[in-house]
Amino acid sequence: MDYPMEPYKIKVVEPIPRTTREERRAVLEKAGYNLFNVPAEKVTIDLLTDSGTSAMSDNQWAGLMIGDESYAGSRNYFRFEETVRDIFGFRHVIPAHQGRVAENLLFSTMVKQGDYVPNNIHFDTTRANIEHNRGIAVDCVIDAGLHPREEHPFKGNMDLGKLEAVIRRFGRDRIPLCLLTITNNSGGGQPVSLENIRATRALLDRYGIPLFFDACRFAENCYFIKMREPGYADRDILSIAREIFSLGDGCTMSAKKDGLVNIGGFLCTNDAALAERITNLLILVEGFPTYGGLAGRDLEAIARGLREVLDEDYLEFRIGQVRFLGNLLDAEGVPILKPVGGHAVYLDARSFLPGIPQHRFPAQALTCELYLEGGIRAVEIGGLMFGHRDPDTGADVFPELEMVRLAIPRRVYTTAHMQYVAEAILSVFRRRDSIRGLEILHEAPVLRHFTARLRPVAA
Ligand SMILES: Cc1ncc(COP(=O)(O)O)c(C=O)c1O
Repeated sequence: MDYPMEPYKIKVVEPIPRTTREERRAVLEKAGYNLFNVPAEKVTIDLLTDSGTSAMSDNQWAGLMIGDESYAGSRNYFRFEETVRDIFGFRHVIPAHQGRVAENLLFSTMVKQGDYVPNNIHFDTTRANIEHNRGIAVDCVIDAGLHPREEHPFKGNMDLGKLEAVIRRFGRDRIPLCLLTITNNSGGGQPVSLENIRATRALLDRYGIPLFFDACRFAENCYFIKMREPGYADRDILSIAREIFSLGDGCTMSAKKDGLVNIGGFLCTNDAALAERITNLLILVEGFPTYGGLAGRDLEAIARGLREVLDEDYLEFRIGQVRFLGNLLDAEGVPILKPVGGHAVYLDARSFLPGIPQHRFPAQALTCELYLEGGIRAVEIGGLMFGHRDPDTGADVFPELEMVRLAIPRRVYTTAHMQYVAEAILSVFRRRDSIRGLEILHEAPVLRHFTARLRPVAA
């Protein structure tokens, strides 16, 4: 079957808001052509992010009722710690309320001014947290990972040549750690193969550089390994996850993705001295080490979610649903990033809107049109998110990829919702020649895409 059956039935429902085109036009104008400024009650299908938007299971909701809200030593913490250790295998498990806090704790402990941190592609919060600590984030993904139409089973792979060139150029002493994002969100939710992880590890070992995973979508990455990497077809997801993490020194995790919860995260390391420094900082900014900014019930929900996400029926459906949407669009010639990633379909905005130059934010213009057309909220991953001014030359620097991400929340939408989304995108595609670019009216100095205000440029 092209689209696997949902491996669950619906127990609780939430009405979906409907709006008129006129209403949406007014909302968009008021929001400064930035979908982050649009109230959720004005959104019909919300594909802004797959982060923190999952539907929890009855088992997770039941877990909330046995939350132990003791300040220190909550029983839920111990269950959470045991689960994380069992799957990820790292010795020290430090809870945090979401992924970027784990990143901040790690980088403010390990990164100093002028340090370089390589990754396949840094996610926006990862890059921003490194830069906040005056480090320099370097992307080293394989070239195929930068070409939207190029088919490759593991487009998230690290380019070992690029990585070694960075190490040689800047020197081991200026590289406190290397990251690997699984799956690679900013590159299209593309997986990294175990062969590549092993080779990355071997290269880093030659220079004594620790490897940390940005593990938000680790289960989806494991599923792709099972489906695509020779030798893994008969392996279960848990054993693939254990093999991946056995090759690292630690990880940051936003449990809002493959933890199947609405809030939560953690940081792991095998290094006791590092864990102690991070824990001291955690107490200062986030909370006691057995809750780390979370309620005991949240820790219970994460522990249960981490088990559920390893279920193969769930993963087959999850990856299949995203692929189904991608296939509907691809069949009609809509330019999408291929192969379809694990958590999202990415529209290639450069090809969708070839008449809009990158400094007029074609991907952002497309997100606005999707909202106007069907009340669909997607997110721009392109010049607005990653463009910046070069501090030396003052010139605008734009990223290679100019995309619109349609991130599918886990266990939330059905086949009919995916069909509705595809139909709206096709309508926009048919009238693409009439779409105008945007210009910025206001922007913040960092992570500008969250709060920027824009307006359409004259035709
Ligand atoms: C790859 C990656 N790393 C880190 C984060 C940050 O996680 P959080 O939103 O929980 O802070 C995200 C969130 O989308 C992500 O996709």
